[in-house]
Amino acid sequence: MQAITVLPAQPGSARLEAIPEPSIAEGSVLVETLAVGVCGTDVEIVDGLYGTPPPGRERLVLGHESIARVLHAAEDGAFTAGDLVVGIVRRPDPVPCSSCAVGEWDMCRNGRYTEHGIKELNGFAAERFRISPEFLVRVESRLGHLGVLLEPTSVVAKAWEQIERIGTRAHWQPKRVLVTGAGPIGLLAALLGVLRGFEVHVLDRVVDGPKPDLVKALGATYHTGTVQDAGEADIVLECTGAGQLVWDVMAQAAPSGIVCLTGVSTGGRTLGVDLGAFNREVVLQNNVVFGTVNANRRHYQAAAHVLAQADPAWLEHVITRRVSVQQWSKALVRQPHDVKTVIEFAPL
Ligand code: BGC
Repeated sequence: MQAITVLPAQPGSARLEAIPEPSIAEGSVLVETLAVGVCGTDVEIVDGLYGTPPPGRERLVLGHESIARVLHAAEDGAFTAGDLVVGIVRRPDPVPCSSCAVGEWDMCRNGRYTEHGIKELNGFAAERFRISPEFLVRVESRLGHLGVLLEPTSVVAKAWEQIERIGTRAHWQPKRVLVTGAGPIGLLAALLGVLRGFEVHVLDRVVDGPKPDLVKALGATYHTGTVQDAGEADIVLECTGAGQLVWDVMAQAAPSGIVCLTGVSTGGRTLGVDLGAFNREVVLQNNVVFGTVNANRRHYQAAAHVLAQADPAWLEHVITRRVSVQQWSKALVRQPHDVKTVIEFAPL
């Protein structure tokens, strides 16, 4: 079968190649991949900046955002042939640590977790894959190919869950939300904010293309100026990982405000900043700044609920480019108006 593979740490090594059919040892459920989404992490892996192959292998099958159809599942299991499903990205570490032991692998404490298509586990960018049922999530069949947005939505479902849990530390009535970055994570974070009834503001650099309209269609406000222009916010979701923006949003949180950082920065750039003034501001305002990554099963289920509530036409517009698997390399080169690019393996 065909798969998109890469030699981690070797820029430009990605290729579409024939690999063996998945082995039964990989899980009892056999699925056919319909599509995989491409995100910044995939581009970093292809650029040789991130990613680890499975033990004893040189190449890693790419892809962690999936939508697939069950071909074969155990008869007494939770899935039947034809179900639309999404694979969960992360696996608990082998120890397991106290978080992985209770299914919260997204909070793994020893770093020995593995991730499909990213860290030591082959990904979903293959015509077929096998997986254990406990790491599969069913999506409603009416969602169809839009289920490929489940994984990025699970990441923001976790972010929002964590914000709300932190918010219970005291009486708090947040109203205004600022999201920085109108990429897929920022837009989905804004969607969840709107569904919660907040006044949502989204800040991005671009003035044209689909992003302003996608934000307006949610009933949120689009800004292109500075963080200061966008105004003070009770909740900030920083979805770019750009150093200056991260710094600016931390100063823009309202008293008792919560700043959630979701962007994985590349590092290597330094900013001249006044950490003493930052500390004073955070302390005197009871602010919280925290980071979040990945998602566990609870978040995938929350995300499936969100996608079922969302306007399918809006979700459709978040997917700005579809590329056939034969043209896979085009998906990994960003075009000016890309939001989410999807590589299609098989028709629905
Ligand atoms: C994925 C997460 C993963 C993270 C770090 C992101 O792109 O969506 O599931 O945990 O990268 O590897």
